[in-house]
This record gives sequence, C-alpha cells and structure tokens, in this order.
Amino acid sequence: MLTRLSTGVPKLDELLAGGVPEGFFVALVGMPGTGKTVACLHFTWAGLRQGESCIYVTTEESRESIVRQAAQFRMDFQSALREGRLIIVDALMREREDEWSLRDVTVEEMLDKVIAAKKALGRGCRRLVIDSMSAFWLRAPVKAREQSYTVKRILNRWGFTIYATSQYAITTGSAFGWGIEHVADGIIHFKRTVSNGVLRRYLIIEKMRQTPHDLRAWELEIVDGQGLTLLRPLARRMEDEALPPEVVERIRRIASKEG
Ligand SMILES: Nc1ncnc2c1ncn2[C@@H]1O[C@H](COP(=O)(O)OP(=O)(O)OP(=O)(O)O)[C@@H](O)[C@H]1O
Ligand SMILES: [Mg+2]
Repeated sequence: MLTRLSTGVPKLDELLAGGVPEGFFVALVGMPGTGKTVACLHFTWAGLRQGESCIYVTTEESRESIVRQAAQFRMDFQSALREGRLIIVDALMREREDEWSLRDVTVEEMLDKVIAAKKALGRGCRRLVIDSMSAFWLRAPVKAREQSYTVKRILNRWGFTIYATSQYAITTGSAFGWGIEHVADGIIHFKRTVSNGVLRRYLIIEKMRQTPHDLRAWELEIVDGQGLTLLRPLARRMEDEALPPEVVERIRRIASKEG
C-alpha cells in the first residue's frame, strides 16, 4: 500500500486519489502570482498541524514574508518556528546572517542546509518545500535538469516528500531552463487567464506517477483567511475561457460554415 501525504487542500487530495505519494518529488510550475507559493504553504501546514516538523526553503521571499503570508491564511508558522518544528531557509540578504541563510544561492549550499536542518529536526520531518528552484539556474538554465536530478537523488535518501516550484516566464509561458518536469514524479501546473477583465487562476495535474488522478483543469480561488480552494472544473477549453463568449460564438459560426 502506498502512503499518501495530504496537500492541505481537501479537494486537491481528492483529485489525487488521497494525496501525494510519500517520497515523491512534485514540481509546482507556472507563471507569477498563480498560487504556487500558497500551495506550498498549505502542504507545509498540513504537516505542521499534525505535529510533524517541516523544512521550507524560500529563495525569492524572506522568511518573514513567508510567515506573514501564512498568517493571512490562518496558518501559524510563527509558533512552529518557535517550537523548533519548522526551519525556514532563506536566501535574502539580512542584516545579521544566521545559520539558516543561504549566502551563495547554489544547489550545493541549499542541499547542505537542508540536510543540516533534517538532522536538527529528526525523524518527524518528512516534508520539504523548495520555493523556488528557478533561482538556482537563472544564470545557467542548461543546468536545470542535471541539478533537479541531483536534488531529487540526494534528498530522496533522507526520506523527504518534496514540493519544488519552478517559474514560467511571462513572455514565453515556459520554464527558465528545462528539466524539472522530466525529473519530477508529479507536475501540478498553475495557470491564469484574464476573462472579461477578471484574472482567473487554474491548476491542472499534468503528471502524478502511480496515481489515477483527475485530468481536468480546475479553477481556483485564493481567499483571505482561508487560502487556496478549488472551485470547479473548466467546462470549456482554456482558450475559450480567455475569450469573451460572443467572440467564441462568432468563431464557432465561421468554423462551422467553413467545415
Ligand atoms: N491574503 C490574501 N487574500 C487573498 N489573496 C491573496 C492573499 N495573499 C495573497 N493573495 C493572492 O495570491 C497571489 C500570490 O500567489 P503566490 O504567491 O502563490 O504566487 P506564485 O505562483 O508563488 O508566484 P511567483 O512565481 O511570483 O512566486 C497574490 O498575487 C494574490 O492574488
Ligand atoms: Mg511564489
């Protein structure tokens, strides 16, 4: 029997036949502001609230920013930090460096910190978030695949189930470097469209090994005091959602005449 870990988002667990298989390396990919970090907070909180300890690596936001964002969704990261059940490794310059700040933002340094954190937290620590992996290869996109593989291989031995985010560029809609998607055991793709002048966000499970998962795109909502929830599957194609209904109707009429 496969053990599955809750994502912290009940509907998403349902779509994943119960959750993420233990030991998996799951890539959360997508454009800015689509909900990747919020999903990472839910995954971390799902562990913390059950008494587990967790490691959260944040490369683009400070430790304080992560704690504040979590608090807005009623996730008490501050207490977990104080109780020594949560270690947040961050990469930002701070006035006083501490043992959990990254100086060089390299994969090697990050792995060292994560392993040190795991030793400090002990056996109750099985969830790890790396948000984001993109920071490690901004200057060398060709390294993405090799380094994703190294991270997965080394951290797997330490018994982690991993959420790793990867950003897609606004200009091209594709990843900085390629590779994490091939190495990952699972891919959850976060998307967005502007429909009738309103920003709407979606996610789709593009891959989850050993899992009979849902194949539809789901509209999601990020709500103050609650966090991320899934609303409904898309009834139409993503392209249709992006266009006003009257335009879609005209295209259909033209297409049916031509056909
Ligand atoms: N308290 C809140 N209430 C409602 N919505 C919020 C709240 N805090 C954040 N959000 C929404 O969540 C978005 C940020 O989502 P998130 O940080 O998960 O994006 P991301 O996919 O990680 O982006 P990036 O790739 O830039 O890190 C904000 O732009 C905002 O729309
Ligand atoms: Mg983010």
